[in-house]
Amino acid sequence: MSRHRAPSPVTRRGALVAGAAWVAGALAATSGAGLRLPSSTAPQAEALMAARLPSSAPSAASPAAPSPAPSTPAASTPAPTPTFDRSAHSTTDATSPWVVVNKTHPITPADYAPAQLTKVAGEVVSAAAAPDLEALLARSRDDGVSLTLVSGFRSRDYQEDVHRRSVSRNGQAGADRYSARAGYSEHQTGLAVDFSSVAGNATLSPSFGQTDEGLWLAEHAGRHGWLLRYTEADQAVTGYNPEPWHFRWVGVELVAAMTAAGAATLEEFFGVTGGPDYA
Ligand code: DAL
Ligand code: ZN
Repeated sequence: MSRHRAPSPVTRRGALVAGAAWVAGALAATSGAGLRLPSSTAPQAEALMAARLPSSAPSAASPAAPSPAPSTPAASTPAPTPTFDRSAHSTTDATSPWVVVNKTHPITPADYAPAQLTKVAGEVVSAAAAPDLEALLARSRDDGVSLTLVSGFRSRDYQEDVHRRSVSRNGQAGADRYSARAGYSEHQTGLAVDFSSVAGNATLSPSFGQTDEGLWLAEHAGRHGWLLRYTEADQAVTGYNPEPWHFRWVGVELVAAMTAAGAATLEEFFGVTGGPDYA
């Protein structure tokens, strides 16, 4: 019997629906030539969230307008609503910040490794993810939280070792619940990291989610572009047991758009397959 809750496209964990101001700021930035604006001055979070909902209302001018139309625009013309372009980046190209990697979407090519890797807090990650990771860690230090990294980029060969060791300890079915097979791990993209709490003595443990560090991450990671990838509620979609330590960099604009849309997973947001079974 499965105890997994069916995912809902409109329900979200508290951590990601919080912080409407930063969500609005990030969404506004997507309409501004790619600029990332600070989140502190975003006044229209609810309007922006409403803008994510489907609407059949046409945007054309009133049919009662006289002809010819007045030569001067109305002073009350509303500002254009920011739109989010879900096709701005590929979900299949391993170099894309939005690449979806799961049990039905292996990394291609199989031996992919990021062209530019860089070290952050002792772990190697894709250079693309490094600035937001640095910012996240700096913010955590400012807030008195002591996060460490225990894993970043993992090559295909290394992931194969990790998975083989897991199978020998837990059997294939057990290993497949929390260890990706070689070629199917987000860690191979260089865009995923595992955090740890030394103070809370929680490394790759479910208890990490209840440590100060895990709680802080769940609340703040999104505004730095990091997504909690494997949640309790989304196991049927992600195919993995909850991993409160595993975060995936997708960029702040995408996290904001997902939050506004009420989508907890990349699979839901982009409409791609996932689940517990390998393709
Ligand atoms: N623990 C995650 C699922 C991985 O092995 O990539
Ligand atoms: Zn991980």
